[in-house]
Amino acid sequence: MTIRRVVKGVGTVVMIVAIIVVGTLISSPRGQAEGRGDDDDSKIEQGFAIAPVHLNLAGRDRELVGLGSYIVNAKADCNGCHTMDPSTEYTGTGNPYLLRPPGGPFSGKTRVNPATYLGGGQDFGEFPFPGSGGPHIITRNLTPDKTGRPEGGRSFQEFLTIMRTGKDYDHLHPSCTGAPDGICLPAPFNGDLLQIMPWPTFQNMSEHDIRAIYEYLSAIPCIDTMVAGQPQLRNDCGH
Ligand code: HEC
Repeated sequence: MTIRRVVKGVGTVVMIVAIIVVGTLISSPRGQAEGRGDDDDSKIEQGFAIAPVHLNLAGRDRELVGLGSYIVNAKADCNGCHTMDPSTEYTGTGNPYLLRPPGGPFSGKTRVNPATYLGGGQDFGEFPFPGSGGPHIITRNLTPDKTGRPEGGRSFQEFLTIMRTGKDYDHLHPSCTGAPDGICLPAPFNGDLLQIMPWPTFQNMSEHDIRAIYEYLSAIPCIDTMVAGQPQLRNDCGH
């Protein structure tokens, strides 16, 4: 064997080893998980880090709950509307908007009030405008009831239909057939559909994301809200 052939042979071996090493790196499951799943994984973890309430994970899909929390608490601002009132949306010292929050100086950290979290009840006023004789549009209670299903026992199919089409299963404000009476919705608005609720935007979410929101809403604490004249805010927490 000449020196030349030996060098060539060593070169070939080095080459083969290099190909194997690079190939292993590219195709190893770990490399793939970090490459593809990294984004979702970090959203799931971030979702758990920012959830403002204790989550009940028993019997639930952890990844969906985490992703759902990320969507609800970092992107879609469901609680911005589905809280009782802007003045109680945050805790006493956790309201970042105020110069002087009710409980003392701002703590430096925004803290959502768990007592009103997604319990509904925010009144957007007479619709479509004050003095129109139309109904008050009020956000609904999204928390789960004793069955553990969100929104007072709603099935996923119903929830999906609401998010995709805005259907109001409770028919709280049917279209007016006569003069507005404070309950029916005057034309041109469609009384079968939820108003103000941004379902025309939410309908563009993937079914996976809507499923994640549903799973998250099933894991948050039940709130039973008592407001005179608003029986739809009541929720049977089973205790
Ligand atoms: C801009 C305010 C706003 C935001 C943001 C908002 N909602 Fe709503 N939502 C409403 C209002 C108002 C209603 C009731 C509308 C009506 O009575 O016509 C409603 C109704 C609903 C209903 C129907 C409840 C029922 O009993 O049928 C569901 C479900 C719902 N919202 C889920 C969500 C989720 C989930 C999010 C976040 C991804 C969200 N909403 C964000 C305002 C909002």
